Amino acid sequence: MGLLTGDTLGPLAVAVAIFLLLVDLMHRRRRWATRYPPGPTPVPMVGNLLQMDFQEPICYFSQLQGRFGNVFSLELAWTPVVVLNGLEAVREALVHRSEDTADRPPMPIYDHLGLGPESQGLFLARYGRAWREQRRFSLSTLRNFGLGRKSLEQWVTEEASCLCAAFAEQAGRPFGPGALLNKAVGNVISSLTYGRRFEYDDPRLLQLLELTQQALKQDSGFLREALNSIPVLLHIPGLASKVFSAQKAFITLTNEMIQEHRKTRDPTQPPRHLIDAFVDEIEKAKGNPKTSFNEENLCMVTSDLFVAGMVSTSITLTWALLLMILHPDVQRRVQQEIDEVIGREQLPEMGDQTRMPFTVAVIHEVQRFGDIVPLGVPHMTSRDTEVQGFLIPKGTTLITNLSSVLKDEKVWKKPFRFYPEHFLDAQGHFVKHEAFMPFSAGARVPGSPTPPRESWRLGPGAGLTGRSFPTRRPPRLPRGAPGPHGALPLLHLPPAALQLFSACGAAPAQRPRGLHLPEGSSPLPALCGASLGAGTTTPRRPAPQQGPEVQ
Ligand code: HEM
Ligand SMILES: *[C@@H]1O[C@H](CO)[C@@H](O)[C@H](O)[C@H]1NC(C)=O
Repeated sequence: MGLLTGDTLGPLAVAVAIFLLLVDLMHRRRRWATRYPPGPTPVPMVGNLLQMDFQEPICYFSQLQGRFGNVFSLELAWTPVVVLNGLEAVREALVHRSEDTADRPPMPIYDHLGLGPESQGLFLARYGRAWREQRRFSLSTLRNFGLGRKSLEQWVTEEASCLCAAFAEQAGRPFGPGALLNKAVGNVISSLTYGRRFEYDDPRLLQLLELTQQALKQDSGFLREALNSIPVLLHIPGLASKVFSAQKAFITLTNEMIQEHRKTRDPTQPPRHLIDAFVDEIEKAKGNPKTSFNEENLCMVTSDLFVAGMVSTSITLTWALLLMILHPDVQRRVQQEIDEVIGREQLPEMGDQTRMPFTVAVIHEVQRFGDIVPLGVPHMTSRDTEVQGFLIPKGTTLITNLSSVLKDEKVWKKPFRFYPEHFLDAQGHFVKHEAFMPFSAGARVPGSPTPPRESWRLGPGAGLTGRSFPTRRPPRLPRGAPGPHGALPLLHLPPAALQLFSACGAAPAQRPRGLHLPEGSSPLPALCGASLGAGTTTPRRPAPQQGPEVQ
């Protein structure tokens, strides 16, 4: 005890402080490189973590962009981060330098899920053999999904009918479409992974969706950022399992469902779904220690596809409904094109798209305007690289501001308006746009591009055949209400005020040809109505430019 007297304590504290500062400087030496992107001065140990406003991060970032330009740097504790804004910088990094920038930052917070090097799933997998194997496998499995008893197209069409029937069942009462869209899209993904759909009141489906929402909530915010940046905190007993309880529960449930489906596998038959196909690969790879086809990864890949596919598609469809309500003129033209090309009796098919330039343009504009993954998903440089003349060393986290591309004022005619003409030429033909990157760009783009396009038919295709969503009130979006949440916001949600109701439960029932609805579900209504419950949310902070308005 004699050691820690007043005399020795002072010098000891100074020595410890100097040591920590040196360690800190070591971690930050990259900042001294001449061509490293500029950024705010970090505080020892925590970097810029405390300067961030975790309630309103957008405000802080806009300030930084104004001060330092399109490419700037940050330090989240000891994690160096470079933020890229605008088409030029994002394209250069993700497309031209895709080999250098396709890695993901390591996520110590997910270690508790048991993510070994061979079982990282898809979404967070490091750029390497395991990722490449799983990427190739899932793309080819999803693409070939004539494998099962039904094509993806048939699954989607059937699900769309169930969805419309559920909308009709609301019989005029106001309702938020989010939960039903989640269920419908969840079912489409489930058809790929489990080869089945669930009734909308099936406790399994409800649990999967509930845990997904909880996990997303737990996954944003200060604590997550702090734990990931300062992983020693994870050693605080019980913290990780408490903070990420929903994720754990989701994995456990997914595992149970996988085991159930494996029991009914008939090895003499071709694979029925992704799980069967994966299990075949596990068999083939037996004895090979360096394979990503293993039990844990089966669960990770299945969960990744479910969460990534369900959440993004469902939010996009919610935006689509909202924007159709807010823009009755656009809705009318889409409806007209659907009537002309598909007709009210026929079911839509993928091939119809080529004759529907306006509808396709609207779909693109919904995705551009909805801008649902505003900051993309973090990448990491796997070797030293250069972007816009700046030097970005190996191991730097890259935040690609997709929002700044989708709403780049240098590129789009009306970046902050919903304007389908962005994707149409003077003759009304569909035109592609280089700055259209809601799925990001380069090596990590999801399922390019079949699965998202297919899922789309849920809405503008099948969903709107013979139906429309007339507006009941002056359409105006609550200003500033839609907005990303969390520290590094992952998702851009439409305002909660969106309320739909089916206007015509009493309309003559109409069953499309060749369509078999599951027992107990009601036939399709001729018409669904919708209204926007504007004014029911209180905007937290006005965001004047971003709020979509009717022109
Ligand atoms: C509907 C609209 C969708 C949007 C806007 C969207 C957006 C994105 C974005 C921005 C990324 C990050 C890409 C990057 O890191 O650069 C991503 C990754 C991913 N998405 Fe999607 N996505 C959509 C639909 C889907 C669907 C339907 C599925 C699956 C069935 C899916 C599965 C995935 C997967 C597995 C990844 C991780 C890919 C990787 O890291 O290699 N997504 N998505
Ligand atoms: C992303 O871009 C938007 C629009 O340009 C901007 O308001 C926001 O501050 C940017 N975010 C970051 C992190 O740079």
